Amino acid sequence: MQKRYILAPGPVAVAPEVMAKMAEPIIHHRTSQFSAILTKVRENLQYLFQTSNDVIIFASSGTGAMEASVVNMLSPGDTAIVIRAGKFGERWTELCEKYGVKAVNIDVTWGDAVDPQKVKDELDRYPDAKAVFMQAHETSTGAKQPVKEIAELTRHRENTVLVIDAITALGVYELPMDDWGLDVVVTGSQKALALPPGLSMVGVSEKAWQMSKAAKLPRFYFDFASEKKAISKQTTAFTPAVSLIMGLSMVLEEIRSQGLEAVFRHHRELAEATREGATALGLKLFSRAVSEAVTVIETPEGIDGQAIVKKLREQYGITIAGGQGQAKGRIIRISHMGYLCQWDMVIAMAAIERALVSMGCPIELGKGVGAVQAYFSKSEGK
Ligand SMILES: Cc1ncc(COP(=O)(O)O)c(C=O)c1O
Repeated sequence: MQKRYILAPGPVAVAPEVMAKMAEPIIHHRTSQFSAILTKVRENLQYLFQTSNDVIIFASSGTGAMEASVVNMLSPGDTAIVIRAGKFGERWTELCEKYGVKAVNIDVTWGDAVDPQKVKDELDRYPDAKAVFMQAHETSTGAKQPVKEIAELTRHRENTVLVIDAITALGVYELPMDDWGLDVVVTGSQKALALPPGLSMVGVSEKAWQMSKAAKLPRFYFDFASEKKAISKQTTAFTPAVSLIMGLSMVLEEIRSQGLEAVFRHHRELAEATREGATALGLKLFSRAVSEAVTVIETPEGIDGQAIVKKLREQYGITIAGGQGQAKGRIIRISHMGYLCQWDMVIAMAAIERALVSMGCPIELGKGVGAVQAYFSKSEGK
């Protein structure tokens, strides 16, 4: 039997003890036992989101929470500014257009971070824009976006909310919701929280909550108001994903006991080591605004990125991700999210080296691995 590793930016590896927790017998959700778990989970989510406001949990993938953000903030015919720095930015536009919202797109070269001045210009040009939609980290390119700077543009505008897709940012690096004045922050279970897919979570600021009361787009399951009412009764509006919430409860306790700083450091170290490995091999990083969530490496001239991914998965048992959309075939993406440690980065780098050599790429075996090892060796004991 082949040993398998998952190093893709979602779904990610899940710790065996978390899997075991989720395999426990189901408890009924309308019980004081479950309410107590849920209340603690919500408290710990506030710690993770760094907010004193409510965090709503839905049984959906991350896109469900993105959709919830659109329908709870806007009305038909509204205008919204969308930062499109990659594949997931495009999703905000698709969602807006489906619901009859005019999307003013700011297109960013893939691999770049948006220039906040461009957002300011559009906000000046469209003073009625009700929302700015963006990714904190664009997973398709590995580019971290300047959330704090953009929040400076929106936080004092009474009628404009900043909606952040933080699906591969929250729990990876610093993104303090209240401090920075973020209005809606969305995440999913299958990324930094190292859980299986199936849960999404949305932090909602007071300003966003007030705006949701006036928003007229249709919604039923994804209605913030129904969930808010349920939160006051220590329950959920509909049947929650009980097993996933049991897993979430365990993961959040662990994050809380380590502290956010340690969790951020862990991701930073995995990312820095991987970047050093790639650079030592003479490979180029795709993103000009590198992130702690994912390392995106350009594939060498003449080598198909999809073929590297296929080789790793089918021959070596290692799943990483390739490129999407316009980056298909041009990049490979290695996750630093999930149940991973330094040795997983050594394995990833070793597999990439072997694949490149077998595909005729003139790199020196061991050079990337050596750099990854040197990085961790330096930080050992610190
Ligand atoms: C930044 C970002 N946004 C949105 C999504 C979509 O999330 P889901 O596939 O959970 O719906 C992803 C998934 O990779 C993502 O990385």
